Amino acid sequence: MNSETKIIDEKLQGTPFMVDSKNSTNKKLFLESYGCQMNFADSEIVASILMDKGYSTTDKFEDADVIFLNTCAIRENAELRVRNRLNDFKKAKKNNPKLLVGVLGCMAERLKSQFLEQEKLVDIVVGPDAYRDLPGLIEEAEDGHKAINVILSKEETYADLTPVRLGSNGVNAYISIMRGCDNMCSFCVVPFTRGRERSRDPESIVAEAKDLFEKGYREVTLLGQNVDSYLYTGGGLKKETLTEEQKASAVSFAQLLERVALIDPLLRVRYSTSHPKDMTDDVLEMVAKYHNICNYIHLPVQSGSSRILEMMNRGYTREWYLERMAAINRIIPGCGISTDIITGFCSETEEDHQQTISLMKSIQFDYAYMFSYSERPKTLAERKYPDDVTAEVKSRRLAEIVELQRTNSGIKTALGLGKVHEVLVEGFSKKSDDMLMGRNPQNTVVVFPKGNYKKGDYVNVMVTKCTTSTLIGEAV
Ligand code: SAH
Ligand code: SF4
Ligand code: F3S
Repeated sequence: MNSETKIIDEKLQGTPFMVDSKNSTNKKLFLESYGCQMNFADSEIVASILMDKGYSTTDKFEDADVIFLNTCAIRENAELRVRNRLNDFKKAKKNNPKLLVGVLGCMAERLKSQFLEQEKLVDIVVGPDAYRDLPGLIEEAEDGHKAINVILSKEETYADLTPVRLGSNGVNAYISIMRGCDNMCSFCVVPFTRGRERSRDPESIVAEAKDLFEKGYREVTLLGQNVDSYLYTGGGLKKETLTEEQKASAVSFAQLLERVALIDPLLRVRYSTSHPKDMTDDVLEMVAKYHNICNYIHLPVQSGSSRILEMMNRGYTREWYLERMAAINRIIPGCGISTDIITGFCSETEEDHQQTISLMKSIQFDYAYMFSYSERPKTLAERKYPDDVTAEVKSRRLAEIVELQRTNSGIKTALGLGKVHEVLVEGFSKKSDDMLMGRNPQNTVVVFPKGNYKKGDYVNVMVTKCTTSTLIGEAV
């Protein structure tokens, strides 16, 4: 997963987007997204549904007829941020009593009608599987009713809808390949907010990627909570009950990767998130086989202690994870690796924490997203285990792993010195319009003088300098 665009609530949040409407009514939508890439991809579906109804978007909520927040519930902080943001809209609502405020996404799904009771300001509550119902729900709210649809679906994949690319640089795009999650990690709210896992028709995925390529995009990221578990069986058949024959005709994640890679060698393919318990060698071999499938894997470990992993219900041990890492290094030498780590999970001892530290030291991740455990209502952990690591201990342990990761990132980035990297240009560098920025396949940011190159070009860059996270060089 792409280190700057994997949008967990602590990173980027609250990004409003603007696009012009296809057919004009003068209704304006202000749409702000929180949470992970999947939520951002969902906002592109929401925009598509509403623009079909004549809405255009605005980046000033004061000008909007409808405000939607697409929310995240992964940690308590994520929810607090949304509640604070709702306060900002109070004055706008006073000035314009017709203004509608809606909450979409995971927090809407988690709180359901409670939201309407707790937050008087909110008129509309819509869960992740009910976006097709948005136009009708807006009409209901316009008639003065509180409108809600939080029904989760076993089939909905929005496969037939063409997302409206919001805030896009015209080079990278997300494609949602599956929805929901069946894993039930004990700390995680996602199975409750996104429902059962289902895979999207591969034909529609390939068609979407082709269309993007034809429009000039050069990189797609295939999204799912656990992409290794992707399996398209056609008639909505359950994975567990497939006959051998049905299994043979189903499309696996490795096969899907190949189909997307074959669209064009100039289309880079990324994917996220991989799950250590399901990541098989056939996926790794497919990555190795095609130059345009990036040598980069986001493989969340969560903890280095097998005892904690067991309590987390992750389905693997420390040894299993290390074996998967060895397989990556064997099949895709030089592969970029990032991870997610939760610190201070229920009953985590100093020794468990040291096991996470030692795992980080031995693997040396290129990048890591690190979080303090946040207890979530209804999860297995909330029901079964006391949240007994104190806030002080959580933050001290978090600081230790963040510090170690900073050192590791620096070491890993410096390994790129003196080498030529294939960079896909995404735009100007943050610091200067004389410099371009892009990424190498391992997902490290590379900056170089622009010369005659432009967005969407592939450029070979000889790296001569670096910071802890950025490579700097010149085109060769
Ligand atoms: N499907 C992905 C993760 C999605 S959530 C996977 O299985 O890896 C992204 C990350 O948020 C998780 O990997 C985890 O590290 C973190 N996370 C999830 N629930 C959390 C909680 N209750 N407290 C703290 N971090 C959490
Ligand atoms: Fe949550 Fe686990 Fe599913 Fe990831 S795999 S979304 S952590 S339940
Ligand atoms: Fe958050 Fe929902 Fe994504 S809880 S991390 S927006 S799946």
